[in-house]
Amino acid sequence: MKYRVGIVGCGNIFPMHAAPVRDLDCCELVAVCDSKPELAQQRAREFNCRAYTDYRQMIEAEQLEVIHICTPHFEHAPMAIYAAEHGVHILCEKPMSIDYADAVEMVKTARQNGVTLGVIFQNRYNPGSVLIKSALDSGMLGKVFSGKLSVTWNRSDDYYQKSDWKGTWDKEGGGVIIDQAIHTLDLMRWFVGGELEYVDASIANRAHTTIEVEDSAEGVIKFKNGILTAFFAINYYTTDAPIELELHCQKGTATLVGEKATISFNDGRTLIADKNPNEVFHYGEQKQYWGVSHVKQIENFYGTLQKNTQPDITGEEALETQKMICAIYDSGKLGKRILF
Ligand SMILES: NC(=O)c1ccc[n+]([C@@H]2O[C@H](COP(=O)([O-])OP(=O)(O)OC[C@H]3O[C@@H](n4cnc5c(N)ncnc54)[C@H](O)[C@@H]3O)[C@@H](O)[C@H]2O)c1
Repeated sequence: MKYRVGIVGCGNIFPMHAAPVRDLDCCELVAVCDSKPELAQQRAREFNCRAYTDYRQMIEAEQLEVIHICTPHFEHAPMAIYAAEHGVHILCEKPMSIDYADAVEMVKTARQNGVTLGVIFQNRYNPGSVLIKSALDSGMLGKVFSGKLSVTWNRSDDYYQKSDWKGTWDKEGGGVIIDQAIHTLDLMRWFVGGELEYVDASIANRAHTTIEVEDSAEGVIKFKNGILTAFFAINYYTTDAPIELELHCQKGTATLVGEKATISFNDGRTLIADKNPNEVFHYGEQKQYWGVSHVKQIENFYGTLQKNTQPDITGEEALETQKMICAIYDSGKLGKRILF
C-alpha cells in the first residue's frame, strides 16, 4: 500500500518535500496545491500529479492520507488542524505556527484524531548535529555548563520585497528569530534538553527599511536543569556566515560552525563530523548538498508511520521550541523576563 500524499505550498521549499516523496516506495504524490494556479499546475506537471488551489478540496477529492504543509507561517495552524480533523497525517514545515496557543491546538487536534503530526527541523539530521547530540547523551562530554550561539545571515530589503508574506507580523510572525535563527535555537534546545525556566531577550529592527519585524535579537534562555544559553541573531549581515554554536561542558567543548562539529576533550582528544560529500540531494538536473537532511527527516516520518510509531520530531517535541520562540517575542515586546 502506498500513502496518498499531497503538498500544499509550491514555493521555495516545495522541492525538498516533493522529490523525497516521489523517491520513496511507500508514497505516491497524488496532488499539489497552491493558491497561485499557474504555480500549482507547473509543479503538478513536473511531478505528474493533479493540481489544486484549495487544500480542503485536495484533501477531500484525493482522499489524502498525508499532507505536507509548505505555506507561509500563519497558515500552518489552520491547515494542520483542518487536516487532522479529516484524519490526515501531517508533516509541517517550521515554525509550527505564529502563536504558541495555535501550536498547542495543532498537537491536541492531531492527538484527538489519532493522526501523526511531524514538524521539520532538518538540521537535527546533519552529521555534525548528530555527533554532538550523541556525545552529550552518552555522557562523553559530562555535564553541560553553558552554551552560546550566533546566527548572522543576510536577508536584505530586496529579499523581503519579493515576498508577499515575509517581513510582516501577521503572516511571518517575526523575522530573524522565527524564520532563520529558529533552526539553531532548536538545535541548542535539543542538545541542552529539559524544560524552559525563563527567557530574557531584546528584539529590534536596526537596519531594514521595508519590514515590520525584527532583524536583530539577543538574549538568554535558561533551562530548568540550570543551564544558561546565550543567543545573538541578525539578518542584516551582508552574507550568510556559518552559524556558530558552542557548549562548554565538564569534559570538553563542543562547537558547531556551519554544519561542522568539533568536540575537543579536556584530555586532548578531538572528534569531528561534517557533511558527507557522498550524500547529495537530487532534484532535476541539480545535485546539491542542501536538502539531504530533509530527505532523512521525511524518511524517518514515513518509516515510523509504517510501523505505527512516532517520528523523531513530533508536534509535542517541536512545541517546546515554539514556546521558546514565542517567549523571545513576548520578552522582547514587553521588555521583561518571561518565566515558565
Ligand atoms: N526547513 C527549512 O530549512 C526551510 C527553508 C525554507 C522555507 N521553509 C519554510 O517553508 C515554508 C514556506 O516557505 P517558502 O520559502 O517555500 O515560501 P514561498 O513564499 O516561496 O512559498 C509559499 C507558497 O505557498 C502558497 N500559498 C500561500 N497561501 C496558500 C494557501 N492558502 N493555499 C495554497 N497555497 C498557498 C504561496 O502561493 C507560495 O507559492 C515556511 O514555513 C518556511 O519557514 C523552511
